[in-house]
Amino acid sequence: MDSAATAADLAAFGRAHPQGFGSLLIDPPWRFANRTGKVAPEHRRLARYATLSTEELATLPVAGLMAPASHVYLWCPNALLPDGLALLQAWGFTYKTNLVWYKVRKDGGPDGRGVGFYFRNVTELVLFGVRGSLRTAAPGRRQTNVMVHRKREHSKKPPTLYEIIEACSPGPYLELFARERRPGWAQWGDQVDTYEQTRKRHRGYDWALPATDEPA
Ligand SMILES: C[S@@+](CC[C@H](N)C(=O)[O-])C[C@H]1O[C@@H](n2cnc3c(N)ncnc32)[C@H](O)[C@@H]1O
Repeated sequence: MDSAATAADLAAFGRAHPQGFGSLLIDPPWRFANRTGKVAPEHRRLARYATLSTEELATLPVAGLMAPASHVYLWCPNALLPDGLALLQAWGFTYKTNLVWYKVRKDGGPDGRGVGFYFRNVTELVLFGVRGSLRTAAPGRRQTNVMVHRKREHSKKPPTLYEIIEACSPGPYLELFARERRPGWAQWGDQVDTYEQTRKRHRGYDWALPATDEPA
């Protein structure tokens, strides 16, 4: 789907959900470009789904989906931090703080299987922003900003974040670019109803489902 069709599809989703969401979780299909602006070859090779440029993401009608006072949680690759901050602003949010996913192995040590040109990444960031004036609920003040969790398959994020959002931020809840259904959430994404059937299990990764190809 090109970016105009994506924006139109999201706008139609917004018309079907006019209530104004209290919290947004968004994990965009980021496009990694090299210095010439071309998609970096290693990212083209690894791509499992279509991607959108930061400029295309910025034009998505996200602000219109949200309540005047609302929270956003944006998964942002370390290399694209400036883009993530720009996106929050484009969608009408003010950046406040972040949460960090620390990726660990089964034995609790850092899972160094990630990529990284300068350093090997074992963390991923969630940028937290606010629209209007809205603190986190009381549990948020006790919640540390670190999620320690094993990796799952490509791009799969830890389910812990749903629990944090539900405890700390107001509903109704919206997830954009979702890949799996979560009860109580409105979700949008081109794989949200198909991904579960097609996902591949990989040896050595953490699974909510019993992994038949993992050693017992
Ligand atoms: C980074 S992944 C989301 C991963 C998800 N948070 C998880 O934990 O499994 C981005 C998703 O956006 C979807 N996507 C890519 N381009 C899209 C488009 N134009 N419209 C809707 N969804 C799109 C991809 O197919 C993919 O499912």
